[in-house]
Amino acid sequence: MDDTKDFGTPKINSEKLVALTIDGIDISVPEGTSLMRAASEAGISVPKLCATDNLDPFGSCRLCLVEIEGRRGYPASCTTPVAEGLKVSTQTPKLEDLRRGVMELYISDHPLDCLTCATNGDCELQDMAGAVGLRDVRYGYEGENHLDSVKDETNPYFTFDPSKCIVCSRCVRACEEVQGTYALTIDGRGFESKVSAGNKDFMDSECVSCGACVQACPTATLIEKSIVDHGIPDRSVTTTCAYCGVGCSFNAELQGDKVVRMTPNKDGGANHGHSCVKGRFAWGYTTHKDRITTPMIRKSIKDPWQQVTWDEAINYAASEIKRIQKKHGFDSVGAISSSRCTNEETYLMQKIVRAAFGNNNIDTCARVCHSPTGYGLKQTIGESSGTQNFDSVMKSDVIILIGANPTDGHPVFASQMKRRLREGAKLIVIDPREIDLVKNTPHVKADFHLKLKPGTNVAIINAIAHVVATEKMMDEKFIKSRCEDEAYNYWHDFVSEERNSPEALESETGVQAETIRQAARLFAKGGNGAIYYGLGVTEHSQGSTMVMGIANLAMATGNIGREGVGINPLRGQNNVQGACDMGSFPHEFPGYRHVSDLSTRALFENAWDTKLYDEPGLRIPNMLDQAISGNFKAVYCEGEDIAQSDPDTKHVTHALESMECVIVQDLFLNETAMYAHVFFPGSSFLEKNGTFTNAERRISRVRKVMAPKNGYEDWEITAMLSNALGYPMNYKHASEIMDEIAMLTPTFKGVSFDKIDELGSIQWPCNDENPQGTPTMHVDEFVRGKGKFFITEYIPTTERVNNKYPLILTTGRILAHYNVGAQTRRTDNIIWHDEDQIEIHPHDANDRGIKVGDWVGINSRAGDTVLRAKITDQVQPGVIYTTFHHPVSGANVITTDNSDWATNCPEFKVTAVQVTKVSQPSEWQKNYKNFSEKQKEFVKEDSEKVM
Ligand code: SF4
Ligand code: SF4
Ligand code: SF4
Ligand code: FES
Repeated sequence: MDDTKDFGTPKINSEKLVALTIDGIDISVPEGTSLMRAASEAGISVPKLCATDNLDPFGSCRLCLVEIEGRRGYPASCTTPVAEGLKVSTQTPKLEDLRRGVMELYISDHPLDCLTCATNGDCELQDMAGAVGLRDVRYGYEGENHLDSVKDETNPYFTFDPSKCIVCSRCVRACEEVQGTYALTIDGRGFESKVSAGNKDFMDSECVSCGACVQACPTATLIEKSIVDHGIPDRSVTTTCAYCGVGCSFNAELQGDKVVRMTPNKDGGANHGHSCVKGRFAWGYTTHKDRITTPMIRKSIKDPWQQVTWDEAINYAASEIKRIQKKHGFDSVGAISSSRCTNEETYLMQKIVRAAFGNNNIDTCARVCHSPTGYGLKQTIGESSGTQNFDSVMKSDVIILIGANPTDGHPVFASQMKRRLREGAKLIVIDPREIDLVKNTPHVKADFHLKLKPGTNVAIINAIAHVVATEKMMDEKFIKSRCEDEAYNYWHDFVSEERNSPEALESETGVQAETIRQAARLFAKGGNGAIYYGLGVTEHSQGSTMVMGIANLAMATGNIGREGVGINPLRGQNNVQGACDMGSFPHEFPGYRHVSDLSTRALFENAWDTKLYDEPGLRIPNMLDQAISGNFKAVYCEGEDIAQSDPDTKHVTHALESMECVIVQDLFLNETAMYAHVFFPGSSFLEKNGTFTNAERRISRVRKVMAPKNGYEDWEITAMLSNALGYPMNYKHASEIMDEIAMLTPTFKGVSFDKIDELGSIQWPCNDENPQGTPTMHVDEFVRGKGKFFITEYIPTTERVNNKYPLILTTGRILAHYNVGAQTRRTDNIIWHDEDQIEIHPHDANDRGIKVGDWVGINSRAGDTVLRAKITDQVQPGVIYTTFHHPVSGANVITTDNSDWATNCPEFKVTAVQVTKVSQPSEWQKNYKNFSEKQKEFVKEDSEKVM
C-alpha cells in the first residue's frame, strides 16, 4: 500500500460528485475537493510547496497556480474548489513562467548546499525546483537573505535550521491542526517573517516533540537528527508502534539494516499519519548497550550470570520446570505474559502453560490494569472490549473522560479528541487531578471538571445516574428495545434512592451536587455522548463496579451502538486488548471462554492433542502468595516486570526470592530479572513478526524489519521451551500461530496475516458475518443479546485517610515515558523526565514546610520511599500524585495490596500516606541501589569473561 503519495489537500467526504476537465481529462470528484487534489487523483501533479494533504490549504507559496477557461487570473489550485463543468489547465507556458519566478525567489534566499545537505534527494524544495525547470537564479545570491540564521539544536531528536526556511507555515499548521499544541507561530511580516516557537528554543517552548512539524516541513529546516547522522533511508517496512494502546502504524525507514527514521503511516487506521514523541523518536532502546542478547543461567541470585548457548538455556529451564513439578506438584509452576507481547506470543504463552505445564497458571499484566474492564463489560454488554473506533470521537457531542489523561497517556488519540473539542464538542472531566485537558490545552476547556476525592468514582457515577433517572432523561425507547427489563427496573429504583443523589454524596465525593447535576444533564441531553476512561477507573477496589456503572450510564442514555457514542477503555500498553483476547487470564481460553466449559475444552483438546485442566489457575497475586507460602516454585515471565509494576514491591520481591526457578524473557536485565535464574534474551518489536490489537480492537501487523539481535523471535523461544518440555510446537512463521488462533476463536475466524496485509488492519469481530471487521459494536443488539444493568452499590475503600496517613497518593504516567520506563529510559526521552517527583498542593506543602525540590518521605501502611517535591495546584489539597517510571522511586513500595473485588486489579490509585521533609533516600532505596548494582555487576563479569 502506498501511503506516501501527497494529494496536496485533505480528502473530502461528500456524496455529491462534481464533474470537470483537467488538462483534457474528464474527472468526477466529491464536491468541495480542491482542484489540486482532483488533479492529483487523476494522476496530474501540480507543483506545490505550502500544501500537503493532512493540512487545510493555505495558499501562500503561489506555486500551484492554474488557468481556468473563462476565468481571469491564475488561481491557486490548492485553495480553489472544483465546480461543475470547469476546464482547468495545469501546464501552460505562462504558468511555467510564473512558477519559475516563484522558485527563483525561494532559491535566491536558500543555502546552495544541496549536494551536502542531509535531505539531498528527499526534499520537496529541490523536487519543485526540478519540476518547474529552474536552472538559474536571475536575482543572484547577493541580496538580503536569512543565510546566517542560527540553528536550534536543543531538541534531542530534530534540528531547526531557519536559514533553509521558506516560511510556508506547514509546520505551524501541523502543530495546530494535527497535534493541537499551538507551539509555533510565524512572527513578523514580509521578509522579516520567521517561524518561532514562542520566541524560545524548542526545548523551552510548549513543544511536545510529536514531530508533526518535522514531517510537514518540505525543506531541510526541520529535520530528524537521525537523518543528519545517517542520511536518507533506502527502504521502508510498515509496522506498529510497541508503546501505547493507540496502536499507531509506522513506516520503519531503513538504510540496510539500520532504522534511520520512523514515519507515521498515513493509512494507519488509528493514527492517520500522526504520532507522539515515543513512537516517532524513542526507538533507540532497541540498540541500547544495556540490551542482553546471549542467554544466561545461574543457580542462585547470589551468583554471577553464566552466558550459555540457546540449547543450554532452554534445556536447563525445561529440566528445572520438570524437576520442580515432580517434586512440588504440577500446580507449582506458572507463567506471566505481558501486554507488550504480540498476540501470537501471548497465545503461545497460555498454550505452553495449559498444554505443556498441564495447569492454568497463566496471568498477564492486564491483571494490574484493565482486568475490571474485561469483567465489567462482559457482564453488562457481553464483550470485554471497547465499543468504537477512535474516529468515532469526531461524531461525539459530549465526551466524558474519567480517570484518563490522554495528552500524556494516549497522545495521538488526544490530538484527535482535541480536534473534535475545538469543533465544539463538550467535555466533562472526572478526575481528582487537573489534567491538561481541563484548561491547560490551547483552545480546549472542560465544561465541567468533577474533581472528586480519589476512591469515590462509583459514588460519582451513581450520582450522575440518579440525576438521569430522577429527572427522566433516560432513553426509554433504547432501554425498552435493547435491555433486560427486570434488571433495568432494579437499577432504576436503586439509583433513584435519595442516598445516591449528588446532594447525599457530596461530602463523600467532594464535588458540589449542582455541578454533578449540570454535568449529568449535559451528558444526557447533549446529543451523542461518549465515555472514555482509563486506569483511574479500573485500578480501584471497586474497579469492576465502576466499569459496570459506566455501561449502565451508556445504556440508560442510549449512547451505545452507533458512531459518536460508546464505552471506550483507553488501554495503557500496546496490546492490552490482545493479551486479554488471547486467553492469558487463568480462567479463560482465547476468546473469553471459561476453562470449565466442556465444549470449549474439547475444542482445544482436539486441536492441541492433549488433555486440558478444567480448574482456573492462579492469578498473579495468588502466585506470589503461594510462592511465599512455599507452594509455587517457578515462573516463566515474558516481557513483564512484576518487580517494578506490581503493587507492594517488598511482597513481590520476597515472592520472587522464594521461588526455585524464575525465568525472564526480556530485552534488558529488568527488575524482575534481578531475581531470575534463567534469562532468555528477547527480540524487539523491530525484529519480529506478529500482531498487536489496540484499544479499538484493531489488529495490526508487527513486521520484522531486521534480524533479531538475540537470534530468535520471542514466539520461537516459547516454542523451543515447549519442545524441550516434551510438548511439540512446530510453527514455521508467526502467521501459522494466527491461523491457529483464527481456527479456534470465533471473533478471529476471518483474521489472517494475508487479510491484514490486504486491509491494512482489522477490527475484530472478523468472521463470516463481518468479513471486513467491526468498527462499531452492539449496533442492533448487544453481544449478550439484551444489555444488562447491574446494581453498583458504592462501598468506600478500606484504604481511608486518618491522622497517621492524612493524604491520598494517586499515580499516573507522563508523555515522555512508557509504563515501567525500561525502554523510554534508554532513549533521549530521559531528558524530559529523569526522575519521578511527588506533586503536592501548595497548602499541604506549606503545612509541612516543604519547598520545591525538597526530598520528601512518603509513608504508607505498606512501606516508605523518598521523592523530590513538585508543588502544584494541579492536585487538590489532601491528594498527592506521582509517576512510576523509575525503579529507584519505589512508587510501588508504598502501594498496598488492596484490590478490585472481582478481578484482583490492584488499587494503585488510592493509598493513604503521610509526607514529611527528609534529607536522604529511604532504607528500601538504599538497599535497592546496592542490590541492583550488584546484579548488574553479575552480568558484566560474565560478558567481560566471554569477551
Ligand atoms: S514537534 Fe509537535 S508539538 Fe513540537 S512544534 Fe512540532 S508539531 Fe508542535
Ligand atoms: S520550517 Fe519548514 S514547514 Fe516550517 S515554515 Fe519553514 S520551510 Fe515551512
Ligand atoms: S506511543 Fe501511542 S500514541 Fe505514541 S506513537 Fe506509539 S501508539 Fe501512537
Ligand atoms: S501549494 Fe497552493 S499556494 Fe502553495
